[in-house]
Amino acid sequence: MEEKIRLQKYIAQCGAASRRRAEEMIKAGRVRVNGKTVTDMGITVSGSDRVEVDGKPIKKEKKLVYIMLNKPAGYVSTVSDPQGRKTVLDLVKGVEERIYPVGRLDYDTTGLLILTNDGDFAYRCTHPGHETRKTYIAEVKGLPSKSALRRLRKGVVLDDMPTHPAEVELVEIRENSAVLKIIIHEGRKRQVRRMCEAVGHPVLDLKRIAIGKLSLGNLQPGEWRYMTQQEVELVRGIKNGKPTETGE
Ligand code: URA
Repeated sequence: MEEKIRLQKYIAQCGAASRRRAEEMIKAGRVRVNGKTVTDMGITVSGSDRVEVDGKPIKKEKKLVYIMLNKPAGYVSTVSDPQGRKTVLDLVKGVEERIYPVGRLDYDTTGLLILTNDGDFAYRCTHPGHETRKTYIAEVKGLPSKSALRRLRKGVVLDDMPTHPAEVELVEIRENSAVLKIIIHEGRKRQVRRMCEAVGHPVLDLKRIAIGKLSLGNLQPGEWRYMTQQEVELVRGIKNGKPTETGE
């Protein structure tokens, strides 16, 4: 439920007048709420009420916020969970705006997750037409052969549909596992895990380190911060005020 606040405060927050001036306007019968003139100072309203001053509707400016979080394992990346598990919103405290995650990371996947209240930005990042490239570091079981790596790069069939070509690099060989850097442009369900599984190398650990040109940097697991305007534009695919060809 949206918070209700006193009418004079609401008018002030909309930038229509100072609170004192708003009180005068209310007393003078210049303010209408949902079509009715209000002269009572005690009334409370929220963004879903129609407030008019001198017959002109006023609205609270919606502040767009963009947050980057280093998601730890053990959190769902939805705003609520029917099973009562912790959600990424439990990690982002003190943000007034109604934010939600852009795309998903699995419960056990860690790393970069963006949260915003900008629906247009979220749409641009996740829409299949212009999906932003996402970079993952995956520790997989065993040592993938050259042909397994080739298959990952070319595309593997998941649910009767091949994945788009991916960039795949073997970055480390460990005792019983290997570390791969995988860049994909799609956002199919559990895509990286299912791709690796399909070539016989199940994922042991998965972390997203970048979305487009935005890197996780040194944010620690569970930490978050507001993105700079420049970072927002990097993800949105705008450089020096102009859209880039690839959207990155
Ligand atoms: N691919 C996966 O398998 N899991 C994620 O969380 C993200 C991409």
